Amino acid sequence: MTKVVSGGQIEVVRTGSEEEFISIAMQRIFAMGAGSIRERGEFSLVLTGGQTVQPLYRRMADAALFRAASLDPALVQFFMGDERRVPEDHLDSNAGMVKRLLLGPLGIARENITLMPGADPDPVAGAARYEKELRSIFPPERCREGFPVFDLILLGMGSDGHVASLFPNCEALTEKKKWVVPSLPHRMKPAVSRLTLTLPLINQARMVMVLIQGEVKRRIVDEVLIGSPEAAGYPAGALAPSGQLLWLMG
Ligand code: 6PG
Repeated sequence: MTKVVSGGQIEVVRTGSEEEFISIAMQRIFAMGAGSIRERGEFSLVLTGGQTVQPLYRRMADAALFRAASLDPALVQFFMGDERRVPEDHLDSNAGMVKRLLLGPLGIARENITLMPGADPDPVAGAARYEKELRSIFPPERCREGFPVFDLILLGMGSDGHVASLFPNCEALTEKKKWVVPSLPHRMKPAVSRLTLTLPLINQARMVMVLIQGEVKRRIVDEVLIGSPEAAGYPAGALAPSGQLLWLMG
């Protein structure tokens, strides 16, 4: 069942099957991509890590689907929302996962892929390095309020309400200036330190799509949507993009 509640820029879509979940996610990603390229000649897409998104990446790994939606995958610029600080060939690497499931099968050229340096021994230097790379791609005219304006940012959400690697009560959540910071999960697995895009950067996106599966997470979203006192503790509750916010719930 698909229920669309669209108050202003927030949209909640509840799907009745994984098939519907994936199909709606792809439709919205492709529509955002085709529109971005039509209007601005580029489509900047931030990928998420985690498990929930993986069936979607597996399905999207077909260039014919992109082209059927009038979107040339070769014109998409791919980025990463967060990264575990492990080498790319490590099982927990988000970069390794997105390359294996999506970017490799699509044959995306290296120059269109800008992923986080997970294996950098110094997290602060790694965060600064990624920020420097982003600044070379997003000059001031592609920024707003000091942050880059990505066309679409995909997010998963943990069962503690974290998004990207912005965990409850973590220092990274309070960052107001930097684009990329190190982050430490207090209890979420894998318990490795991370790099993450910051909340003010995420909130400048033209669209944020949060991929939610399962009752526990659906309940968290419901708390966030009604603005319950518990929601204050969830980083997902701080999502307020200047563009559209889509909660896609399976
Ligand atoms: C990561 C992800 C993270 C993920 C959530 C949800 O590096 O783990 O970027 O933010 O999206 O933890 O993960 P699941 O989809 O695996 O529950």
